Amino acid sequence: MASAIYQCIEQIGSKIIEHKDFLTELDREIGDADHGINMARGYSEALKALPQEEEDIGAVLKKTGMTLLSKVGGASGPLYGTAYMKAAKVAAGKKALTLEDGKAMMEEAIAGIKMRGKAVQGEKTMLDALIPAYEALTEGMAAGKSPYECLADMCAAAEKGVEYTKTIRATKGRASYLGDRSIGHQDPGATSSLYTLEAIRDFVKGL
Ligand SMILES: Nc1ncnc2c1ncn2[C@@H]1O[C@H](COP(=O)(O)OP(=O)(O)OP(=O)(O)O)[C@@H](O)[C@H]1O
Ligand SMILES: [Mg+2]
Repeated sequence: MASAIYQCIEQIGSKIIEHKDFLTELDREIGDADHGINMARGYSEALKALPQEEEDIGAVLKKTGMTLLSKVGGASGPLYGTAYMKAAKVAAGKKALTLEDGKAMMEEAIAGIKMRGKAVQGEKTMLDALIPAYEALTEGMAAGKSPYECLADMCAAAEKGVEYTKTIRATKGRASYLGDRSIGHQDPGATSSLYTLEAIRDFVKGL
């Protein structure tokens, strides 16, 4: 039987593939109309490459990251690839994760994206969904919430972050070429980050 972590990646991939056209549409407005195509191809390749029965969460995340990094061109492949590979280090050798592990994985993933993309919050990127989600996780844990409740809060925070990207100017990636004309448009990468978190939330709900 496929391991839980494989099933989780499969659920993320399905969600991204389901929203492929919308992600590409968003990127058409402020980029080069390939974000959905890039992400869908990356997950299809990753799902083909992953060992379905492998229970070592770190090993599966590492392979996912390496596949996204090598098969997806542009900005998002290396950025998501780095995020997965950084999170994989925290999960190395583990067959189950605690909320503390999840928090450390988010911290590493965000640090990896910041390092690779040389970006900070407020530049209209995936970080504008992921950083608020991380903060919601920290707050949820402090309030003693369950993993599912924390994930639900993380998704709500990421959704607000996606809305926020509509109000700001892009200063990273191709969207930055538009300057003020990027205002009013939703960031594709922040949107795919929201879908990723929603898929993880729904996966955890079904456990
Ligand atoms: N330096 C960066 N740091 C963090 N995220 C970034 C950066 N550059 C781009 N992104 C994210 O990547 C998304 C675009 O991903 P896409 O798959 O379309 O790759 P791309 O076409 O090569 O990107 P871009 O045109 O932004 O360079 C953006 O919406 C943004 O969220
Ligand atoms: Mg693009």
